[in-house]
Amino acid sequence: MAEMKQAPAGASAGEKFMTWVDNRFPATKLWNEHVGEYYAPKNFNFWYFFGSLALLVLVIQIVTGIFLVMHYKPDANLAFASVEYIMRDVPWGWLIRYMHSTGASAFFVVVYLHMFRGLLYGSYRTPRELVWIFGCLIFLCLMAEAFMGYLLPWGQMSFWGAQVIINLFAAIPFVGPDLALLIRGDFVVGDATLNRFFSLHVIAVPLVLLGLVVAHIIALHEVGSNNPDGIEIKAKKDEKGRPLDGIPFHPYYTVHDIMGVAGFLIVFTAVVFFAPEFGGYFLEYNNFIPADPYKTPPHIAPVWYFTPFYSMLRATTDQFVNVLCVLIALGAVLNLVKGAGTGKSKITGLVIAAVVIVLLKTFEAKFWGVAVMGGAVVILAGLPWFDKSPVKSIRYRPNWHKLVYAVFVVNFIVLGYLGVQPPSPTGELVSQVGTLVYFGFFVLMPWWSQLGTFKPVPDRVTFKPH
Ligand code: HEM
Repeated sequence: MAEMKQAPAGASAGEKFMTWVDNRFPATKLWNEHVGEYYAPKNFNFWYFFGSLALLVLVIQIVTGIFLVMHYKPDANLAFASVEYIMRDVPWGWLIRYMHSTGASAFFVVVYLHMFRGLLYGSYRTPRELVWIFGCLIFLCLMAEAFMGYLLPWGQMSFWGAQVIINLFAAIPFVGPDLALLIRGDFVVGDATLNRFFSLHVIAVPLVLLGLVVAHIIALHEVGSNNPDGIEIKAKKDEKGRPLDGIPFHPYYTVHDIMGVAGFLIVFTAVVFFAPEFGGYFLEYNNFIPADPYKTPPHIAPVWYFTPFYSMLRATTDQFVNVLCVLIALGAVLNLVKGAGTGKSKITGLVIAAVVIVLLKTFEAKFWGVAVMGGAVVILAGLPWFDKSPVKSIRYRPNWHKLVYAVFVVNFIVLGYLGVQPPSPTGELVSQVGTLVYFGFFVLMPWWSQLGTFKPVPDRVTFKPH
C-alpha cells in the first residue's frame, strides 16, 4: 500500500479533504499533469481555440441528447410525431432540439477548422502521429454518429438519405448485399433500421467517441502541444525542467479559452435562435415531411458536412475510372523511363499498376465510388508519413506552399458545394477534377512538400506580449 500523506498542521478543511481524496484517488496528480502543470507553448493563436470548442460541443451534444431521448420514440410509426411533440409541447423542447441539430453542424465546423490547424502547423508530424490518428478515428466516428442521428427524425431526407447510403454498401464485392442487409436489419430501411441506428447513435458510438477523445488528449499531453511555429518547446527547458516557452495551461489557457467559448456561443446562439434551419443546410426542408417509402424526393442530398465526400462518390463514373486507369498507366511508364529507382523497383511499379488497372476494370464504378469516398477520409491518416517537408509550420515553408493549401481548401469547398447541387454534366466534370486535386494533394505530397526554399526556423517561439 502506498504511504498515506498527512495534511500539514493548520490545514483548512478543504486541504484536509483533498489529502484524504489524494490518498485514495490521484485527483491532484491528474489535475497537475493535465491542467495546472501542463506546460503549453505561449504562442497559441486563434486556431488553438478549436480543440476546447470541440470538447464544448461534445458536452452540448451529450447533454441535449440526454433530454431528447426522454421524449423521443424510436419507432417508425411514432418517431416523426415525437419530434414534433418535442418541438411544440415539451417545455423548452424546441431549444433542446435546435441546440442538438445546430450542434451537429457546429461540431463539423469546429472539427474541420481544428483539422485544418493541424495541416497548417504540421501538428500531425513526429511525435504527434498518434494524436492525429486518434483524431482521424474521432472524425470517422463523428461521421457515423451524424449519419445515424439524421435517420432518427424519420423525415423524407432521413429515410431517403439512409436508403441511398446503405445501398452503396451493397456495391462492395462479395459481402456487399449481406452487409447492407445487416445494416438495415431488413430488406428495406424500416423500423428495424431505426431501432438499431437509435441504439448505436445514443450509446455505442458516443462511448467509442468519448474513449477516443480521452486517448487523443492523453496522447497529446504525453508529447506536448505543437504551436504555430512548429517548434518543440521541450527542447529548451529551465533548471526546474519547465519548457522556457511554455506556460501552465491553468490559469493562462483556461482563461484564454473562455474568450473562444464566448465568441463561439455568440455565433451558436445566433444560429439556434434566428436561423436553426440555416437556409436548409443544417436542417433540410424535405425533412419536415414524414418519411414516405413510396415517394422519392426529386433531389436527395446529404447534409453539408458530407457533401465534399458525396461529390467524390458521384464523380466516380465509368469514364472517370477509365481516366484513372490511363493516369496510373502513364505514371508507371514515366517511372520506368525517368524514375530514380532501381530496375527491379521499376518493374515492381509496373506490375502493381497493371494489377490496379485490372482491379479497377473488374468491379463496377459504383463500388469504386464507395472506395473513393471512404479513401478520401482514410487517406488523412497517412499525412504524418506523406509530409516530407524539413519544417513543420507553414510559416517557414516556401510561400507557394500556401497557395497549394489554398487550392486544397477551395477545392474542398467547391466539392462541398457541388455535392448539394442536383447532378449536371458540368458539375460532374468539375467534381472529377476536384477529386483528382484532392487525392493529388496527398499522393504527391512526399514530392511537393520537399520542394522550394525553406525559411530558417528560430530556436524559440515568436511571441509578442500584448
Ligand atoms: C470530438 C472531436 C475532437 C476533440 C474534442 C478534440 C480535442 C482536442 C483538444 C482539446 C486538443 C488540444 C487543444 C488544441 O490543440 O486545440 C486537441 C489537439 C489536437 N487535435 Fe483534436 N479533437 C477532436 C478531433 C480531432 C480530429 C478529427 C483531428 C484530426 C484528424 C484532431 C487532431 C488534433 C491534433 C493534431 C492536435 C494537436 C495540435 C497541436 O498540438 O498543434 N483532433 N484536440
